[in-house]
Amino acid sequence: MPQAGQLLRPAKRLKLAPPPRRAMLLAPPGAKRQPPAPAAGESQRRSLPIFQARGSLLSQLRSLDSAVLIGETGSGKTTQIPQYLYEAGIGCQGIIAVTQPRRVAAISLATRVSDEKKTELGKLVGYTVRFEDLTSNETRIKFLTDGMLLREAIGDPLLRKYSVVILDEAHERTIHTDVLFGVVKAALRKRKELGKLPLREAPSSQDILVFLTGQEEIEAMTKTCRDIAKHLSDGCPQMVVMPLYASLPYSQQLRVFQAAPLGYRKVILSTNVAETSITIAGIKYVVDTGMVKAKKYSPESGLEVLAVQRVSKAQAWQRTGRAGREDSGICYRLYTEDEFEKFDKMTIPEIQRCNLASVMLQLLALRIPNVLTFDFMSKPSPDAVQAAIEQLDLLGAVDRKEDQLTLTPLGRKMAAFPLEPKFSKTILLSPKFHCTEEILTIVSLLSVDSILYNPPSRRDEVQSVRKKFISSEGDHVTLLNVYRAFKNVSGNKEWCKENFVNNRNMMLVSDVRAQLRDICLKLSLPIESSRSDTGNIRRCLAHSLFMNTAELQPDGTYTTVDSHQPVAIHPSSVLFHCKPACVIYNELLHTNKCYMRDLCVVDADWLHDAAPDYFRRKLRAAKN
Ligand code: CDP
Ligand code: MG
Repeated sequence: MPQAGQLLRPAKRLKLAPPPRRAMLLAPPGAKRQPPAPAAGESQRRSLPIFQARGSLLSQLRSLDSAVLIGETGSGKTTQIPQYLYEAGIGCQGIIAVTQPRRVAAISLATRVSDEKKTELGKLVGYTVRFEDLTSNETRIKFLTDGMLLREAIGDPLLRKYSVVILDEAHERTIHTDVLFGVVKAALRKRKELGKLPLREAPSSQDILVFLTGQEEIEAMTKTCRDIAKHLSDGCPQMVVMPLYASLPYSQQLRVFQAAPLGYRKVILSTNVAETSITIAGIKYVVDTGMVKAKKYSPESGLEVLAVQRVSKAQAWQRTGRAGREDSGICYRLYTEDEFEKFDKMTIPEIQRCNLASVMLQLLALRIPNVLTFDFMSKPSPDAVQAAIEQLDLLGAVDRKEDQLTLTPLGRKMAAFPLEPKFSKTILLSPKFHCTEEILTIVSLLSVDSILYNPPSRRDEVQSVRKKFISSEGDHVTLLNVYRAFKNVSGNKEWCKENFVNNRNMMLVSDVRAQLRDICLKLSLPIESSRSDTGNIRRCLAHSLFMNTAELQPDGTYTTVDSHQPVAIHPSSVLFHCKPACVIYNELLHTNKCYMRDLCVVDADWLHDAAPDYFRRKLRAAKN
């Protein structure tokens, strides 16, 4: 809260030119009307003596909590300093107050400054005097009598709405200004203790950590922040903006640990990976959106959905604790206290909110004698365990003999892949359809975050370059087309840029693919390519992902076969505007509706061939 009390040396009284509008109102009747004085132009502002000192004044005011400024009358202190502060973004989080001992001075100065800013009086620049308040929500520079500020201090001794208080004409030693000095000094001290000094004005060595929900959101916000960083007001420390999320290549993740160059502030935009897993030095400020993207699973419906949801209280405190680990810090929570009170106390452990098929497969592979009674620290619901076993059963991974569960040879092979069982099954089935090369690519593509980059501002361009990859058979084949084209140009970066393909994620896909291929070789799977025959690829997907089937209804909507849940095609799918009769999907995403993501058009007959018992059962259940 820098304050510039002004001690004027010359005893000469300030002669204020009356503001143009008032001049007209006060003109005696019959007097010849003077045209209003032209608004002071930029050049006039620059010709004032104080302009020479603008840069050094700003840099000093940035580093000081309070200052006393002395200067010649008419040099521009009263009219210019509030504008300099505003233009430089100092105190941009609140209002800049300028006190005046006299009411007429407050009014005429506000008029003058709003003219100079070419804004209407009462908008950006306003005034408050007794019985008259010409300010609005937009007001950032406010002239007011010292008596008025004193009155406000009774209501809020911390003067919280002000980021800068200028006690002008301090040399006059009016009783109100004298008392205000004491009040403002106390507020300054107290606000410092409470850590309530405005954020921008913090030294550049103090870094910021922002918690967001996912890669897409973080990438978009990174871009926005980088744009803002290009246009920071002068004298403000520069920012380096860094994204952080799990699928970011390791070398880039490491960048967040490096100190920013001198004079730069680090701004890290992160998922909840920065909540517990890692500690970044130098973080003084945390911004907590209160949201997290997490999996939820309902065994009744068999639905596993990835949804943006509220954090728990424990998570919120964990995030808060990330601020100022070496020193005191500040966390900005973008939610109200009431909302916070409604958060869950603890985060539900992952084991209780995800599909347990993978876990059960691992336990069985470890030859745990009875997985159904395994001693979990937080027990998943028996329904969830049953649902997982049922899924493994459908995939042909388990044998049930006299209540004893064991893995089948297929199940044992499935456990060799670090994948969800349904994708391991897809790979293991692929030799039958002579398309292992393609399936390896598709499973790898589905294992990383999206390889397609969709800047909202360039939607039309994106759509036109994407056309050449799009397959009417769905997203899997479309993604395969993109990957093939990427390989054809040997991963050329320029090509990626032109085609809005995320080069980083594509490299990751290649890595994942190589690892999966190694596992196939170890299992002696024949690795063939189906080349241009995509029918076999879709058949293979139908045979392994048949639990994720949705059918078109007579009214044009879709419902899942498994739990009869209404679902819709996600707008990101290439099938968004199509209405295929039968599709399989990769996952469900619950936002405003339940969306299917990554879809493949399949033939209902293939599905019935793949799991005749299952479909017969579902059909019967649907009829009842
Ligand atoms: O506060 P200080 O005495 O340093 O100067 P100022 O009030 O900021 O005035 C800067 C310039 O603007 C001077 O040339 C004033 O005469 C002029 N001014 C004006 O023409 N009309 C006003 N209402 C206020 C200032
Ligand atoms: Mg003045």
